[in-house]
Amino acid sequence: MSNKDIYILGIESSCDDTSAAILKNGVVLSNIIANQTIHKKYGGVVPELASRAHLSNIIPVIESALKESNVKLKQISAIAFTRGPGLMGSLIIGTEFSKGLGLSLDIPVIDVNHMQAHILVHFINNSNPKPKFPFLGVTVSGGHTQFILVEDHFKMKILGQTLDDAIGEAFDKCGKKIGLDYPAGPEIDNLAKEGDEHKFKFPLPNVKNGNISYSGTKTAFINFLHKNKLKNKNFIDENLNDICASIQKNLVDNLLNKVELLSNENNLKTIVFGGGVSANSYLKTRMKNVSKINNWEVYIPKLEYSTDNAAMIGIVGHLKYKDSIKSSLTSTPSPRLTF
Ligand code: KG4
Ligand code: ZN
Repeated sequence: MSNKDIYILGIESSCDDTSAAILKNGVVLSNIIANQTIHKKYGGVVPELASRAHLSNIIPVIESALKESNVKLKQISAIAFTRGPGLMGSLIIGTEFSKGLGLSLDIPVIDVNHMQAHILVHFINNSNPKPKFPFLGVTVSGGHTQFILVEDHFKMKILGQTLDDAIGEAFDKCGKKIGLDYPAGPEIDNLAKEGDEHKFKFPLPNVKNGNISYSGTKTAFINFLHKNKLKNKNFIDENLNDICASIQKNLVDNLLNKVELLSNENNLKTIVFGGGVSANSYLKTRMKNVSKINNWEVYIPKLEYSTDNAAMIGIVGHLKYKDSIKSSLTSTPSPRLTF
């Protein structure tokens, strides 16, 4: 391996965001994200529309990432792309485009696991402190809720995960029931700031081990709304902030109970979050308080690195490139990719 600079083009297209990033020696120079607003009116991601939108977004997004970083395509050392998990149609666009571009530039392509990337985003070299191994990785997104023992960059073991809905999905589905647009997580976060989190109580599921469940909460929430709307048809409008604060508290309580359990069981004092829900301001405040009590060191990504982004794909590409881990051009998308 020579001493020359490593430039990675990262491409993310696993769900409904098309993103491209340029990294130089692990430092993010640009990270462009095109959100697909088309899904809002359907209340969730429509896979077929997502893949079509990726197709039209991918070239402009890459061009913007190159322009903003002032890097030329011919300087790129390797292309890192999301191989999975995610939506098949969306993954195909990123995977096939990356392989084609890699072939035409005669540079390697590197496949990346999206969930590993949500954790490894903490290793970008943009002057941030990096977590020390081993640690407890907690991925909280629209599709996943996982607790991971991370012993090294690529030595990860799932300790527990959701048995049904992901935490982000619970935010989005509960939000939809009170009339919020998809994705509802950020809006619940905002509305909850003016609400009383103790006003309404929802049950916590009884899952004994390191796994977690969110579907029962969603059902309890629907029943709660139904009962109260029978008594007062304006119940939601009149209590919107308190409803948001109370359901958000329940979703976060459930998560933190498991984080505490797995931290104690595995003697892990460093807790590293990744995924869209780690942008939640209430979760951040709660983590600050709980970490003081437990003597934890907590890492939560900056907002632009919490939700889906290509910088996280790029940093995994950088780490793999340094370790000479490349993919072959026969690599195919894997919607249920695990590790
Ligand atoms: O990681 P991500 O961008 O995409 C997936 O891989 O799923 O996560 C998206 C999820 C959505 O469910 C969204 O509602 C949630 O993250 N989310 C939030 C917040 N920002 C995004 N949930 C709660 N509070 C937020 N501030
Ligand atoms: Zn994600």
